Amino acid sequence: MVQQLTPDAIEALLVFYRDAGVDMALSEEAVDRFAEGEAELAARQAAMSAQRSASRDEPGNGRSPAAAARPVPVSAVGSPPAPDAAVYAAREAARSAADLDELKRILESFDGCALKATASRTVFEDGARDARVMFVGEAPGRDEDLAGKPFVGRSGQLLDRMLAAIGLDRKTNAYIANIIPWRPPGNRTPTPQEIAICEPFIRRQIELKAPDLLVCVGGPSTETLMGLKGIMKSRGRLQPFAVGDRQIQVIATLHPAYLLRSPIAKRQAWRDLLTIKAVLGL
Ligand code: URA
Repeated sequence: MVQQLTPDAIEALLVFYRDAGVDMALSEEAVDRFAEGEAELAARQAAMSAQRSASRDEPGNGRSPAAAARPVPVSAVGSPPAPDAAVYAAREAARSAADLDELKRILESFDGCALKATASRTVFEDGARDARVMFVGEAPGRDEDLAGKPFVGRSGQLLDRMLAAIGLDRKTNAYIANIIPWRPPGNRTPTPQEIAICEPFIRRQIELKAPDLLVCVGGPSTETLMGLKGIMKSRGRLQPFAVGDRQIQVIATLHPAYLLRSPIAKRQAWRDLLTIKAVLGL
């Protein structure tokens, strides 16, 4: 019997799907797996295993029977195409931007990253463009996707309090962006391909913004921009950072989302903030 859902229940279900990262329909007809009878399931499994053994015996299948019986690693079948073309297109597009407004326009019309299709907005920047310090986080979450601005949700509010503690605020003297400008569905971790495609844009954004101090907020930003793995040991150390033909300073610090989960780590974040404050002479 087909269950009739109320409009409210349908809306709640769609919200649940969206938050879980479901971003496409695979078939016109929904498949009700619960309704499939045991017999039907067993018949399908038997057909699949017959098909598997037939293809294992096929001449020209270079894998030995023993190897063929083993599951094929995911990376060996149907892996997505190399992102080289998209990365190249991103580099060319980013390079062509003469200023931040143009970079924003280019990013908004760039279709080389699949994340854009599921995000509702391109989240480019927030804060003062003439600030001496630029903070770069990972990727927008749900609140940022709705607002079109980075760091506006719970972790953004904590970031604002951290900034305020050293005399910074995004209206007057702090500038904020992310390495990824589109929300990954369900807030999943961006893939290395997605990061590689977006990286030329954030690098160009840093170049055009030309801060004196760059702050990588959290592990993914630190790894992408500073090339350092392990935020706990990378954080807090000032390093030189080349921006075009200028040399600026960079420092990594802990992500406010991490601090919300592990408040004990605020002690280390505070030390990083004091270093930032000293560099800026606040
Ligand atoms: N986390 C980030 O890294 N960036 C945001 O914009 C929001 C949450």
